[in-house]
Amino acid sequence: MDLKGLIASRHSVRNFLPDPIPDAILNEILEAGRLAPSAQNKQPWRYIVVLGADRIKKLALNCGLIGLSNYFIRSAPCLIIACADTRKNVRINKQDYYLVDTAISFQQMVLTAWNHGLGTCWLAAFSEKKLRSYLKLPASWRIVAMSPFGYPAESKSLYAKALSSFAGSADRLPLREIVTYLNKEKS
Ligand SMILES: Cc1cc2nc3c(=O)[nH]c(=O)nc-3n(C[C@H](O)[C@H](O)[C@H](O)COP(=O)(O)O)c2cc1C
Repeated sequence: MDLKGLIASRHSVRNFLPDPIPDAILNEILEAGRLAPSAQNKQPWRYIVVLGADRIKKLALNCGLIGLSNYFIRSAPCLIIACADTRKNVRINKQDYYLVDTAISFQQMVLTAWNHGLGTCWLAAFSEKKLRSYLKLPASWRIVAMSPFGYPAESKSLYAKALSSFAGSADRLPLREIVTYLNKEKS
């Protein structure tokens, strides 16, 4: 798929087939994250890859998923937790860039996955405190996001349908609401 098609068709997936991700594809996804740009090229991102239904289910029960709404991650064959080592942070204008850097890197992985027919869903509704203690993360690491990675299940379960209509949407603001041109008439 070309980049335009990839960006336009990507959507959050909340129901997965159990089929594992081939190693070569998983490596390509991680490589896409590795190649991302970052402030002063500090590359603060650190990734934890969790493979296998049993491990993911155990993690799902131990990461303080808010209202269990993200418990759907247990259906995926792979979960990637995007962390950042804050010792690699660049702070400019009171802005901490480790979050931006890691988000850019993770989104490159999300799009690469989609290019291989793999669905993802960014997750923020979990307890960072519980997850970091479960994973025994180094003190300087933050958890920026996590996402299941897997082949989308063709028919959504009722639970996944309800979640998608609650959390997911294809609606986007029109350009005129989000873009301001300086020195140029609005088009
Ligand atoms: C930073 C971030 C956090 C999100 N957290 C959650 C979440 O905790 N649970 C969930 O089901 N979806 C979550 N989403 C997915 C959004 O709901 C979804 O991207 C948005 O509604 C647009 O839908 P789409 O991804 O299908 O285009 C999150 C997305 C982002 C970017």
